[in-house]
Amino acid sequence: MTTGFSQASTRVHDKLFKLGDADSYNEVVDLFDKYTEQFTRHLPAPMMAMAAVQANQCILDIGTGTGIVALEVARSLSEGGRIVGIDLSDGMLATARAKAEKEGLAEQTEFLKMDAEALQFEDNAFDNVLSLYALRHFPNPEKAVAEMHRVLKPGGSVVVAVGSRPELLSRGGVVAMSRRITSIIRRLAGRELAACEFLDQLVNQHIPEIVNSDTAHWTADRHGFTGSVRGLLESAGFTDIDSTWRGQYSIIESPEEFWELQMTFSSLARKRIGQAEDSVVDGLKNEFISTCEGVLARKGRLVYQSGAAIISAVKP
Ligand SMILES: C[S@@+](CC[C@H](N)C(=O)[O-])C[C@H]1O[C@@H](n2cnc3c(N)ncnc32)[C@H](O)[C@@H]1O
Repeated sequence: MTTGFSQASTRVHDKLFKLGDADSYNEVVDLFDKYTEQFTRHLPAPMMAMAAVQANQCILDIGTGTGIVALEVARSLSEGGRIVGIDLSDGMLATARAKAEKEGLAEQTEFLKMDAEALQFEDNAFDNVLSLYALRHFPNPEKAVAEMHRVLKPGGSVVVAVGSRPELLSRGGVVAMSRRITSIIRRLAGRELAACEFLDQLVNQHIPEIVNSDTAHWTADRHGFTGSVRGLLESAGFTDIDSTWRGQYSIIESPEEFWELQMTFSSLARKRIGQAEDSVVDGLKNEFISTCEGVLARKGRLVYQSGAAIISAVKP
């Protein structure tokens, strides 16, 4: 049985989680923008294609960050078109606005501070809703997905992209699996380190878990994650669910850049290291750099292998 007290304490926990998640980005906005431009640039186009975004439409981007999706949509809009990006991080929103201004896209864009689980828009307000790498950050994703459904016009599409390994039997899955086998052999020989697993492992060793603070609890099982997103969309009343996968494999040149990238993209590292004592962080970073240098001395490599499941659905 859920008591009034436990409901209230869950609400307080969720609120703190959301504020903590958004605030953790304020510290790293410039780096986030730099690495997003470098490693995420390939994702907005297939998301827009799956939603069949038209130049005169009104589009919503949820958890917009520094606007990688919103600005790509803005570039494709004609005079009647409009894109609204929402996020809870002031730093992310400020950078998204500044980028829109710089590119001359301010007229057709709007960036608003808003909780994805409680959108302040009328029903049926948008032609399409997009959201990249944000769903894992919401403690109640079913609320966020219900809100996406509510603000979409009937016939409109939602396209949600989440970090994920590919389906095993897909073409992407076969390529990723053969890379993974090579990777395991290289790692056993001490000749490869992979982001963000490497830093996450060190953080787990050096800084004990802060309960429920890293990513929303429901995303713990990464393998079942794409399946759970489909389930969420179906439960909210979406139909015609379709999905695709996009992966990227990059070699990172230096240990410092490898550190910076993982400190920016790993929620676990960003949040726990942000709360740890300086001496603990120094010890962890020394071990990180010396392990990387050892791998490079053996002619090994530092890699960042990312993958996104892009899932689309229609509001009937
Ligand atoms: C991994 S970033 C993705 C940003 C952007 N979509 C991209 O791919 O570059 C997740 C974003 O979700 C935002 N966020 C977290 N919780 C939120 C919430 N409850 N409502 C709206 N945005 C939220 C964070 O502030 C952050 O900007």
